[in-house]
Amino acid sequence: MHRIGVLISGRGSNLQAIIDASRAGALPAAVAVVVSNRSNATGLERAQAAGIETVCLESRELSGRQAYDRALARVLCDRSIDLVCLAGFMRVVGAEFLDAFPNRILNIHPSLLPAFPGLDAQQQALDHGVRITGATVHIVTSTLDNGPIVVQAAVPVLDDDTVETLSARILEQEHRIYPQAIRLMLEGRWHLSGRRLIRT
Ligand code: GRF
Repeated sequence: MHRIGVLISGRGSNLQAIIDASRAGALPAAVAVVVSNRSNATGLERAQAAGIETVCLESRELSGRQAYDRALARVLCDRSIDLVCLAGFMRVVGAEFLDAFPNRILNIHPSLLPAFPGLDAQQQALDHGVRITGATVHIVTSTLDNGPIVVQAAVPVLDDDTVETLSARILEQEHRIYPQAIRLMLEGRWHLSGRRLIRT
C-alpha cells in the first residue's frame, strides 16, 4: 500500500475525493498525512473526520522559501510518503522540496493547461471567451503549472456561466480525474518522453 501526502490551503474537496477513492478501494494507496499552510483550512477538519494525521506548517512561522520547503520535505520524508498531492495548496514549492520528491509531486489546476495558468483560471477562461475549458493533473516542476500532464478533462463553457457555475462544473471533473491520475502514477506503468507522459 502506497502512502500519499496531501497539501492543502482551504476547502479540501479534492482531498475528500482522494480520501473517498482510497477508502472505496479505487487507489493502491492511503492518505497518510494532510499538511496545510493555513490553520483555518476546512480541509483539516475533513482529514480529522477521516482519522488522518494533520500537520499545520504556517508560512509565517518559517522565514523564507528554503526553510519552508525543508520543513515540508522533512514532514513528508519522516512519514515515508511515496506521492505528494497538491490540492488547492496556495504556495509555490521550491527546488529543495522538488528535489526530495522527483516526479512524485502532482498538482490539480482548473483549466486545460497550458491555457490559463496561475490564479483565477476559471475567470481567465470566461474573460478569454473559450468555449471549452477543463481540469488538468500534472507533475509539479519548478515552473508554475507547467509540468508534464498526467490526466485532463474537458468542460464546456455555457453562455450563461458565471465563475461559480463554471467552477462547480470543473470541480466535478477534478474530483474524478485526481484519483485517476494518482492511480496511474502509483501503478508505475508510465515513463516520460520529454514533456510527454507515455503509458506503458
Ligand atoms: C481547485 O479548483 C483546484 O483545481 C485548485 O484549487 C481548488 C482547490 O479546491 N488548485 P479544494 O480545496 O480541493 O476544494
